[in-house]
Amino acid sequence: MTDTYAVFGNPIAHSKSPRIHAEFARQTGQDMRYAALLAPLEGFTETVLAFRAGGGRGANVTVPFKEAAWALCGRRSARAELAGAVNTLKFDGEEIYGDNTDGAGLVRDLTANLDVPLAGRRILLMGAGGAARGVVGPLLEQGPRALFIVNRTADKAMTLAAAFAGQGVVAGGGYDAVRGAYDVVINATAASLAGELPPLPEQVFAPGALAYDMMYGRDTPFLAFALAQGARAADGLGMLVEQAAEAFFLWRGVRPLTAPVIALLRAA
Ligand code: ATR
Repeated sequence: MTDTYAVFGNPIAHSKSPRIHAEFARQTGQDMRYAALLAPLEGFTETVLAFRAGGGRGANVTVPFKEAAWALCGRRSARAELAGAVNTLKFDGEEIYGDNTDGAGLVRDLTANLDVPLAGRRILLMGAGGAARGVVGPLLEQGPRALFIVNRTADKAMTLAAAFAGQGVVAGGGYDAVRGAYDVVINATAASLAGELPPLPEQVFAPGALAYDMMYGRDTPFLAFALAQGARAADGLGMLVEQAAEAFFLWRGVRPLTAPVIALLRAA
C-alpha cells in the first residue's frame, strides 16, 4: 500500500510542499503520496486525527498551526521542544511524534547551499514570533560570535533571547538598539508579506554580508534594501526545500538530493 503524507495549513492552496516531496519520492524510489490539505482555523487537531485514522503516516504543518501541532504530540525532538513549535509529525501506532526541521533547513541552506559559514559570525535575526523562535537554537548551535534578535516590540525579542541564554552569545532588543555591522541578516518577520521593510539602519551590513529573507517567491523590500546597500541577497526557497528534506529523512530514512529540486522550483 502506498504511504500517504500531507501538509496542513490555512491557507494551503499555493504550498510547494507536494511538488517537493513528489520529487524526493521519485528521486529515491519511495512509494508514497503527499497532498496539501486545508485545516479549518478552529479544527486543526480534528483534521489531523482524521487523516491519521485514514492511514496517514505523517504530516507537515505550516502557518498558523505549528504551536497547535506541538501541543498535539506525545513525544518531541529536543529541537522541537526548544522551538515550542512543530512542523513535522510522524505517526507511529498510537504515538504522535513531533519534530521541527525549520532551523536545520535554514542552517543547511545558509552553510551548504549559499556557502556562508556561521561559526564566529555576527548574526542579526529580525522578528520574535514563531518563525524566529524556530531557528534560534539551530543558529546558536553553529557557534556564531553573536546573535542579536531584533523586534518592533523589543520586549518580545528580549524574552526570546533570554529563553536561549546559556546556549550561546544571544541578546535581544528593538531596532534602535541595533549597533555595528552584521555578516548575516535574517528576516523572520511578517513584514515582507505586507510589502514592508523593518526599520534597519543603513550600515547594518558588513562587507560581503548576506541578507536572507525567510519568505520566498518574490522580491521583498528587505532584499531590495540589502542589494542597494551592496549585500548579497537570498530568499527562503532553499530553506523550504531543506526543511522538507529533513522531514522526508525522518519519515523514510533516506536523504534526498536538494539542489536539483531547488533548481527545478526556481525554473518553474
Ligand atoms: P510568525 O509565526 O510568522 O513569526 P508572528 O508570531 O505573528 O508570525 O510574528 C510576526 C513577527 O513579524 C513579529 O516579530 C512582528 O513584530 P511584533 O512582535 O513587534 O509585532 C514582526 N512584524 C510584522 N510586521 C512587521 C513590520 N512591518 N516590521 C517589522 N516587524 C514586523
